[in-house]
Amino acid sequence: MLTIEDLPLDGKIVFLRVDMNTPIDPSTGKLMELNRIQEASVTIRDLNKSKVVVGSHQGRVGRDDYISLAQHAEALSKILGKKVKFADDIFGPTAISQIDSLSKGEVLLLDNLRFTAEENMEFPPEVAVKTILVQKLYRHFDACVLDAFPTAHRAHPSIVGFSYLLPTCAGRLVSKELKALKNIMTVAKAPFTTVLGGAKVSDRLEAIDTLIANKRADRVLLCGLIANVFLKAARKIEYDIGLDSEQKLVDRAAALMSDYPDTFELPQDVAIDNNGERKEILVNDLNNQNKVYDIGSKTIDHYSRIIRSSGTIFMSGPPGFFENPNFGLGTESLLRAMASSFGTTIVSGGHLSAALERFGIKEWIDHVSTAGGALVMFLAGKRLPLIDALENYEMKVRK
Ligand code: 3PG
Repeated sequence: MLTIEDLPLDGKIVFLRVDMNTPIDPSTGKLMELNRIQEASVTIRDLNKSKVVVGSHQGRVGRDDYISLAQHAEALSKILGKKVKFADDIFGPTAISQIDSLSKGEVLLLDNLRFTAEENMEFPPEVAVKTILVQKLYRHFDACVLDAFPTAHRAHPSIVGFSYLLPTCAGRLVSKELKALKNIMTVAKAPFTTVLGGAKVSDRLEAIDTLIANKRADRVLLCGLIANVFLKAARKIEYDIGLDSEQKLVDRAAALMSDYPDTFELPQDVAIDNNGERKEILVNDLNNQNKVYDIGSKTIDHYSRIIRSSGTIFMSGPPGFFENPNFGLGTESLLRAMASSFGTTIVSGGHLSAALERFGIKEWIDHVSTAGGALVMFLAGKRLPLIDALENYEMKVRK
């Protein structure tokens, strides 16, 4: 695929699709970390002789994290050390006039692309070009740079539409992630272990099915909220966990355990909050009054042994609520087991990247990716629409 040196971008209006989708604190509505915004800034800096129109999505319709990108523009301005203009619009007259009046070296961030209905749907490229989003905007752009690696698995118009019509190349993050992952996957060997934690239960259920079905997860070590869903499916806990569509998730977990009976490891013990202190209890002693924030020491030992004897270890989502020092033991111990293993190690997402930095072991992990779902698809050997778009343009140029 082409990169930004391969296209004549000086003085041109470039549409740069990044992924600045960031966890949002539900109580304040504020950005919780800046990892992806920082990664996006690298390509923006390298496009400093162009007029750059940045597009990103944020959150999903109906969720707390479905917000405007105004805060992202401020954060990006601070990181770049120069003003990033913000359009509280996507393809209306205000955005269009802001795009057309950009000067060389200026950066304009459009508002959350998912505020348009079309950006929440997937299309083949030849249909994506007919969307209003692409039709309204593409004539205002000279080229497209795709750098949204965490969204590489989504065939949304901003990913597959502009790139079908305009000269298109990869940004720095896409190049960096692909280079690292391709090198890693050439040496990755079995057994493959996946450590699953965090709070995004339905996404992780989908991911785990894809990984197991594609022989990229021989063992799955369950932690976090998703572990509770499997514990309930295994009838080890009997009460409501408090998740939306809980029964559907529990049924899905039960089906996965029955389809792949020797794959899943469930916690034997957990850490709960006891008047502000960590208290470890056996899973059998849990009741609906207990708030679980981490895995317990027995589980940590068991999981660490499996990690150390694995050929490839992939962690997605933190094992515990490590932001609170009382509940960081599970996350720190399992990350340390990965860091000291002889296997190939891959860690996904901004939360875990922050944890690795906090524990001072980031450089001991083979690859820390910005991506979640896209990484799972990549590891499972699936084709990704964003990569296809880049390869297709390169092929067009060759021909
Ligand atoms: C992610 O965080 O995985 C990407 O930004 C894609 O988000 P999505 O799963 O809501 O499409």
